[in-house]
Amino acid sequence: MGSVLIVDDEPAICWTLREALRDEGHQVQVAPSAEEALRLTAGTPAAFVPDAVLLDVRLPGRDGLEALEDLRQNIGAVPVIIMTAFGDLQTAVNAVEHGVYDYLLKPFDLDPALAIVNRALQPSVSDSTEGAAGAGLTPSSVGETIIGRSLAMQQVFKNIALAAASEISVLITGESGTGKELVARALHRHSPRRDAEFLPVCIPALNPGVIESELFGHVRGAFTGAAEDRMGLLELARAGTVFLDEVGDIPLHLQVKLLRAIEQGEITRVGEARARPAKPRLLTATNRPISELIAQGQFREDLYFRLSVFHIHLPPLRERPEDIPLLAEHFVQQTQAARGGQPVTLSEAALRELSRRTWPGNVRELRNAVEHAALVSRGGMIHPEHLPRPLAPARVEPANLLDTVQAALRKWVAQAARENTDPNPELYAEFLHLVEPPLLEVVLEHVAQNKAAAAQLLGLHRATLRQKLRRYGLPQPE
Ligand SMILES: Nc1ncnc2c1ncn2[C@@H]1O[C@H](COP(=O)(O)OP(=O)(O)OP(=O)(O)O)[C@@H](O)[C@H]1O
Ligand SMILES: [Mg+2]
Repeated sequence: MGSVLIVDDEPAICWTLREALRDEGHQVQVAPSAEEALRLTAGTPAAFVPDAVLLDVRLPGRDGLEALEDLRQNIGAVPVIIMTAFGDLQTAVNAVEHGVYDYLLKPFDLDPALAIVNRALQPSVSDSTEGAAGAGLTPSSVGETIIGRSLAMQQVFKNIALAAASEISVLITGESGTGKELVARALHRHSPRRDAEFLPVCIPALNPGVIESELFGHVRGAFTGAAEDRMGLLELARAGTVFLDEVGDIPLHLQVKLLRAIEQGEITRVGEARARPAKPRLLTATNRPISELIAQGQFREDLYFRLSVFHIHLPPLRERPEDIPLLAEHFVQQTQAARGGQPVTLSEAALRELSRRTWPGNVRELRNAVEHAALVSRGGMIHPEHLPRPLAPARVEPANLLDTVQAALRKWVAQAARENTDPNPELYAEFLHLVEPPLLEVVLEHVAQNKAAAAQLLGLHRATLRQKLRRYGLPQPE
């Protein structure tokens, strides 16, 4: 049994929570505003001293989080559970900085909400304010805003806020263009290392031969061209953050070295035996599932565990279409601010068209589309015809294509083997009949029906080619 203070201006929420908590035997008080909550909890003898607080963020008058600092003077370190309909990253960060115990996203179901309150009321709860509290409200650092009202993005905000405050390594996953780098920058911006450097490095952009020296540095004479000692990124970012983008592309032998660097907090420059202390914070990202790379022996599992102590996944845009209007408006405004001129607005129809598309290139593609449209609309209203044509929905990567073809052929063979009851089966010939004609046709097309050139490209004798064309009933070019 405990006492709970509910601070919310929506009578329906207050009523539901109050009845449910009273049924469980708790003592409940309700305040419709932060001011009222402060009044209720002020002054020693008459004050209501709650064991837990459920606090709405958006309140008439003072904002719940903003008032929390004052409320803490009255209530001390009791667990505070934030309730919010739709917060931004700053809300989540502020919540963590104020030592908020948990975070309920509205609308919420009653049962999980009660479970959280009951957990908060347990005398054994470890004080989650530790470390985070007292950091105080930092003025909301302007930077790249991360937009999103979907539940998935609200979770991402919460995770950024939780992870930012600590030193743990974070692995950020998601398809291309979902905002992985944006999240990495936000993690740094909201971390205790925010005043030190953020050093992003995109592994596939580096020549494989220089990855080691880029990351770990080298000493003079370590290899041809190493004219002087040079610090690597991991050493440069000692007090800051290193962001390893497409970390799956780090060669295996360097994965061992990286793991050792992380575990021991020291790095060794190329060409030097001495280890030097370096403890940068490591953030990594990948748009390929690392589990597949591990299965293929291309990525070390132990390193993976080290890097993914905390994991933030960004869902593709097609799985959170409710974010599209907000993002589109945001990009329109950004373009506007950058270019000035006549105000640009999105028409209803353009917005509908944007929401209808599947965005294989995710937020990046949406951003480009909106910027393009703002430009061609020449100020004024953006209509659907101003939007660029959508990218082909499913881009078939060559690797996938090969997989697809081989899978289809396997299926065909298995089925043909099952069904073939012919006394003189000719499965091999049938198989060739399936795959050779397209090969011959496309090659002939490619060389403008020149049989000699086709034979050469195929690596076949001209007579053999002629024979095959006849066998498959294909036209014989002159
Ligand atoms: N939630 C978001 N709110 C606002 N802008 C976003 C959001 N997500 C992505 N963007 C914008 O979309 C673009 C792509 O984002 P980012 O570079 O972070 O993607 P990525 O996941 O790192 O992609 P890649 O895998 O191709 O490197 C950037 O211009 C970024 O600012
Ligand atoms: Mg990126």
